[in-house]
Parts: sequence; structure tokens; C-alpha cells
Amino acid sequence: MPGYPVLPEGIAYGGDYNPEQWPEEVWHEDVRLMREAGVNLVSLGIFGWSLLEPEEGVYDFGRLDRIIDLLGSSGIRVDLATPTSSPPTWFRAAHPSSHLVDRAGHVIAGGSRHSFCPSSPEYAAASERIAGRLAARYAGHRAVVMWHVHNEYGWANARCYCETSAEAFRDWLRERHGDVAALNAAWGTTFWGLTYGSFDEVEPPRLAPVGQLTALQLDYARFSVDAHIANFRRERDAIRRFSDLPVTTNFMIPNCEPMDYWRWAGEVDVVSNDHYLDAGRAEGHIELAMAADLTRSVAGGRPWMLMEHSTGAVNWQPRNLAKRPGEMRRNSLAHVARGSDSVLFFQWRASRYGAEKFHSAMLPHAGTDSELWRDVVALGAELRELAPVRGSRIEAEVALVWDWESYWALELEWRPSVDLRFRERVEAYYEALWREHVTVDFVHPAADLSAYRMVVVPSSYLLTEAAGKNLHRHVEAGGHLVVSCFSGIVDENDTIHPGAYPGVLRDVLGLSVEEFHPLPENGTVAVGDDGLTGRIWSERVRLAGARTVRAFTGGPDAGHPAVTRHELGAGTAWYVATALDPRVGQDTDGDLRAILRAVLDAAGVSRPRGLPDTLELLRRGRHLFLVNHGDEPVTVPGVSGTGVLDGAEHAGSATVPAGGVTVVELAPDA
Ligand code: GAL
Repeated sequence: MPGYPVLPEGIAYGGDYNPEQWPEEVWHEDVRLMREAGVNLVSLGIFGWSLLEPEEGVYDFGRLDRIIDLLGSSGIRVDLATPTSSPPTWFRAAHPSSHLVDRAGHVIAGGSRHSFCPSSPEYAAASERIAGRLAARYAGHRAVVMWHVHNEYGWANARCYCETSAEAFRDWLRERHGDVAALNAAWGTTFWGLTYGSFDEVEPPRLAPVGQLTALQLDYARFSVDAHIANFRRERDAIRRFSDLPVTTNFMIPNCEPMDYWRWAGEVDVVSNDHYLDAGRAEGHIELAMAADLTRSVAGGRPWMLMEHSTGAVNWQPRNLAKRPGEMRRNSLAHVARGSDSVLFFQWRASRYGAEKFHSAMLPHAGTDSELWRDVVALGAELRELAPVRGSRIEAEVALVWDWESYWALELEWRPSVDLRFRERVEAYYEALWREHVTVDFVHPAADLSAYRMVVVPSSYLLTEAAGKNLHRHVEAGGHLVVSCFSGIVDENDTIHPGAYPGVLRDVLGLSVEEFHPLPENGTVAVGDDGLTGRIWSERVRLAGARTVRAFTGGPDAGHPAVTRHELGAGTAWYVATALDPRVGQDTDGDLRAILRAVLDAAGVSRPRGLPDTLELLRRGRHLFLVNHGDEPVTVPGVSGTGVLDGAEHAGSATVPAGGVTVVELAPDA
């Protein structure tokens, strides 16, 4: 399978390039400035379909030929895109049955991108054709080094509810369930008397009066992912007929909830991702780190590509805050620290037209006499120094369980509390570990866990029997496990596992849960007597082998276990029966970090101690990345080696300036 290295000489730097929005004289200036900035890779042609195929079956590759030649002769490589996320207007006019339909049955208008049904056969044929044409024409071009199929599958058209989709869904169900009796059994359709007589009676989960079958909704979510994957495969295979260069499509981890990227992972040669900060959020860099770790995990630990991020503000948030001084650099280098072999942006030159004209770019409307441009040039120079990092890997001793199916299931209606959210709980545990300077991978709950000393399962509501056994084996074999409330409750069809909660985890945790007692809005509950406070959730735990580490000291379960520990085989399983949070700073004895520290210590997880929790620390291969998100310089002890960006020699410590980044190539014995 083609894959690495995409750019043998180092880290790829550049971004989306949309020259079709500019007269050709501007292209020459673009190329000159790209060279000045150190750009070595651009994603080209993402939105070019209407120019390449102005009428159905009529092609015009003239402009694309000229720009690819110009880039190639200037030494800038091309990640050549198929333009299929934005079909031409003629396609939409000719094929009304390809129009996207929402849950309420509204036909979604054009004048935008992504306005097609993912199950449309007309779209399938047209997208395969243009992908094949592009591959046939440019496969041997020296500038083209990889293929970028589509753009952000499932972002704005994740699920379509039209009649074509309904038909495709019925076929998908026949394949999955075999016969309608099996479907009825899996979905539990005796509930409310919803038994189907044939597959033809099944409707997509369109807007319903009240409480729709949850298993139907989960299967529709799976079906929809498969519809997008089928579109990708068709284009990828059309390209493969002419080219063996790596093929990718840009994911949106973790901000595209409907796409199950575990399902996608094996389809691409190189995992690539788009990530944008939520600018309104304090310490967005922690979410960035989580996104990067999850992307690396989807890539199976291999290096991946940051396909898009922003130099400054985006245009699509309510308040588009600019990045603060040094933030673009910190963000870019943090992605590299966590396994990216590229730093690419949306986009090269800011657009004058349409919906995205206020989005930042590498070359802003203000031009080159701007702080942003100078930062872009400086970053390009630094990335050249980081070339030796390319291809290296990251080791983690701790894994966090992440499952999109469980994410979907927990967010469906009529759960015990609207406040218990999958992302919120994962982020709480991730943040606690980030602040403790622990490197984590993400894993599917049924994945091989043998590489990890400790596995954390934050509110993984849907866990299959196989996943439950997998976690059990991990503990028996000597691993440590931390599970938070409302995990292991249902199977893949959203059916409660038999017996008391948490069905598939009772044995490994050595307990059962008699009743959930969710808290009122903004309610809290005391845990132990040293300031630990739970939110959202309380429940009545009954011990069956586990010991109480801390008990609830208030609320509906006062006097009953809140945090437990169960020795099993050679390992230990911990349970947290409420929502605990990490706090900022050093005084963290009364928070989730204190609980996790105990488990990290018991599991023997190595990590630095005594550093401020605003310092991000990551080892990638022979390189140590230190990113200081705080306002004070930080001295990190125990660092010996050479500063890659500044040539400084470190003999026993490194000092990272406030807001700065230090990358050290560690001495051979480190
Ligand atoms: C991405 C998309 C780009 C651009 C960018 C703006 O989601 O792939 O085409 O729209 O957002 O932030």
C-alpha cells in the first residue's frame, strides 16, 4: 500500500490553494511568495469541478495544466484533489433526485457545497468519472505527489433522508440483518408494537412525533457512514487504475460526530485531518492536543497529516477571535509533536468572494507587510529545521476509549440526564491526563490493549459483549482500568445488557449499580471529605468484590461508594460513579487528577512531576517538544540535547519562554 513518505525531504508546509479564484498573473506572485514562505505542498483543485467539466462530459483542463506546470517548475508539490464535494450547478439541475433532504423532508437548496445525497447513483457515476479523468491526466506529472479525494466527507450532508436513501438503507439492512425477523429481534420492535412485516416497511429515522426506535437511529448512522465510504472507495479505485501514489481524504476529527473514523481508518493510505480551534474556549490547545492524539490513533500510530488549520480567525463561529501572538506557531508545532508530518492551512491566499472572505489565510488581504505574513515565513523556516522529526512515532502507556457508536448512542433522546455527554466526559479525563503530562492514545474498546499499562473508559454507554470481555482480559493480564459512570449499559442495538447495570462490566469492576440518581441542573454532590465534588450524576453502587476508595458524603447516595477499586487477576479496575473534573493549577488534591494520579502510580506510568500544568510536553522519537501555554518561562529539568530551532545546548535542563516552544533533539542516552 502506498503511504509514507509523502515528502521525503521533511515536514510538508502549505495549504489549500484555489488559484481559480484569481487571474493568472496572480499565480506567478503566489508561487514567488510560496517559495519565500517555504511552502512545499499545496492542495489543489478542491472546488474546481465546474471549471474542469463546464458541461456534462465536456472537459477543460487548460487552467489546471498551466498551474500544475507552474507549481512543478517551481519545486512546489501538489496534493491533487478530486473536486467532488461541490458538484457543478448543471449536475444539480439535471438530477433533482440527487438533492439532499433533511429529517423533516425539506429539500436542501443549492448555491453551496455538499448539497447532494450520499446515496445518489447519479452522483456516484459523475464523481467516479471526474476522479478517473483527473487521475488519467495527471498520474505521471512530476509535481503531483498524492491524491486528496473530496473534501470533508459527511460534514454538511452526513445523513440524507430522501427516497433514494430509504431504498439504499433497506438494502443495507437486508445485508446486515438477513431477514426481517432478525431485524425485529435486534431492534426490539415489540416495544410500542413497531414490528415490521418486511424490509419495505422500514423508513429512515425521519422527524417522528416522539421517541423513535433508537436501534433504527443507530443503524441509520452506520448506514450513512458506509454510504460516504462507498463514495470514497469508488473515487479511490478510479484513481488507482492510473496511479499508485498515496490517496487520502481529509477527516474532521473529532468535530464531525456523524463520521465513525474507526470505520474509515483502513480506507486511506495516509490519515489526514482538519482541525479548527473553538476560539471562544479557554485553553483550546487541550482540545487541539486531544484531536491530534485521536487522529494519530485513527492512523494506527503512524504519522499523519494536518491537512487544514488556520493561521488566525475562522469566519464561521459567532465571534471569530484572532489567534494571539505566538498561537499559530504553538498550534502548528503541537500538531507536529503529536505525530503530524505536515503543517497545512486553509488556505494559501484569502478569498475575495463568497462565504469565506473573512477567513484568515497564509497570505492575508493585507498582503506581505503584515505580522501574520512574517509569522508564516518564520514558521516555514522552523519547519525546515524539523525535517528529522518526519516519520518518527510516539509511545503512550495510557489509552482512552473512544467509540463513535457510543458517542451517537449516548446523545440520542431520553437518557437519564441530558447533562451527561460523551465529549464532555472524554474531555474531562483527557484534560486531567494532559495536565499530568501523560501521553495518551485513543482506542476502540474492542482493540488490542496489550501495549497499555492503563486504560480509561469515560462514560462509554454502548459497549458490546466483546468489548466488555476485552477490558476484562486487560485487567486480568495486569492492566489498570478506570471506568466512569454510565458505561457498559447497552449493546450495539441500544438494548440494555441483561441483569443489573453495568452489564458487561459488572465482573471486571466487582460491583453492580442498583439505580441511577442523576442530579438536578447544576447540582453537585460531595465525594469523601477532602473537597472532591461530583456533578451531573450519582448512583447506588453495590459492591461485589470491589472496595470503596471514597464514598458519597452528600446527595441521594450519601454513605455509598463513589470511587471503588477491584483487584482482579494481576490488575486493578477502578470505578468512578459521578462526574469529576480536573482543575487548573498545582493544588489538585480534590479533583479528578488526584484519583487518576493514584491509578497512574499504581500502574507505574512514567511522567515528569512538578511541572506547571500549562506546559505541554511530548516526546516524538528522539525529539522532545515543550510548548509553554503559560505567561511565565518554565524550566524543565532532566533535559539534555540540542535545541533544534535555536541550536542551544541543554545539559540537564531546558527553559521554555512564556508562550514559546522548544524542541530538543535528545542526547543519545536520553
Ligand atoms: C474546512 C473546509 C475548508 C474551509 C475551512 C474553513 O472545514 O474543508 O474548505 O471551508 O473549513 O475553516
